[in-house]
Amino acid sequence: MQPPIGVPAILDLKRQYLIPCLYHFYRTPPQIVRGQGVYLYDAEGKRYLDLFAGVSVHALGHCHPEMVAAITEQVQTLQHTTTIYLTEPIARLAESLAAVLPGELRSTFFCASGSEANEGAALLAMLYTGRKGFVALTDGLHGRTRLGTNLTHIPMWRTDPHPPQDVVHVPRPNCRDCPFGKCAGSCSWECVSAVEQAILTHPCGKPAAMFVEIVQGNGGINVAPAGYYPRLREVLDRHGCLLVADEVQTGFGRTGRMFAVEDEGIAPDILTGGKALGGGTPIGFFSTTPHIAACYTRPGASTFGGNPVTAVAGIAFLRILQRDRLVERSAGLGAFLRSRLGRLTSRFDFVREVRGRGLMIGVEFAPRGETPAAAVLDIVLEKLKDRGYLLGKTGASRNVLAWMPPLIVSPEQLEEAADALESVFQTL
Ligand SMILES: Cc1ncc(COP(=O)(O)O)c(C=O)c1O
Repeated sequence: MQPPIGVPAILDLKRQYLIPCLYHFYRTPPQIVRGQGVYLYDAEGKRYLDLFAGVSVHALGHCHPEMVAAITEQVQTLQHTTTIYLTEPIARLAESLAAVLPGELRSTFFCASGSEANEGAALLAMLYTGRKGFVALTDGLHGRTRLGTNLTHIPMWRTDPHPPQDVVHVPRPNCRDCPFGKCAGSCSWECVSAVEQAILTHPCGKPAAMFVEIVQGNGGINVAPAGYYPRLREVLDRHGCLLVADEVQTGFGRTGRMFAVEDEGIAPDILTGGKALGGGTPIGFFSTTPHIAACYTRPGASTFGGNPVTAVAGIAFLRILQRDRLVERSAGLGAFLRSRLGRLTSRFDFVREVRGRGLMIGVEFAPRGETPAAAVLDIVLEKLKDRGYLLGKTGASRNVLAWMPPLIVSPEQLEEAADALESVFQTL
């Protein structure tokens, strides 16, 4: 293997040959060269505890030996054919996925990314309903295709200079800062009525589907109040509008459930996913009921979707996730970490809230004196990185510290990282 070329040389290559939209974290970024379990290593040999898992991808940690073995064996046997040839892994992965999907969801289309999965889900919803438009929530993120960026509401990811009229955004449920000026427990679910209003006044006529992230990831780890989704489901059913749960980030144990929607007592009509399922290989999928799937009979193919390498990775991933009871582990460790981090809110006045589910936890920052909250968070992230801890940044205002560690992380490692965070706070 070639020796690492080093940070300045990579930055120089990036400047010359990559489109500048590809930004990176940190003022002094490390060159990451290796991953093992919950740790990443840079070119100087420095070790980092990875608490972001490549944005909710490495649920089993980096280079899990059984994943490496499954992928290596497949790479040495058959790498790629496309869906026009018959291979077994894609069918086996669909079978394994059907066994864990919620409700009546059983029929799947595989593709290569979460964005593509949402694009496919939108197409399916239009084919099934014969309608055109969509509804989505404020602070949501659904991808980087044209429709994906327009379903997305977070300003920094809405890049399309000519947004089409197909998507109407509705305020997300937010009991702390209610967009309707109400108080939790004494409102009339104005956030649900707003969805009905959007359906009735949509410029495209009644929309085909509503897209939601059950727990919003990039929007700041936002959890909806209990009772929101069942009410939403009623409204959507009344108007023949499908519910698409975007579980690209939340799926496969991240929130302490196999899928976040399981906490809501409802099932979506279409569920989209990706990230963790591929164990680091690129994957996306949308799954639906056999009844809805039956409307999609015109040819649909994906060059890389469900290719043998990704499919065996997905099968191995699901087997290990269930065998090692990592979904339950995420629920238990998440409760522990939330309570540990919760103590920080009373000790540091710039910590506004700790929230989340399972091992998907956000620490929201408030401004500190003259320093904006996002700038405080950037300082904290840089100092944590220097001490050997990698965490993430989310929120429409980029002021939420994101914890999304591999589900194999130990309580001791979480405690150690929480101590490091507290110690960084003391230096501010
Ligand atoms: C909720 C959600 N949906 C969709 C996407 C897009 O997935 P991808 O980057 O694989 O296209 C992401 C990516 O972060 C996501 O978090």
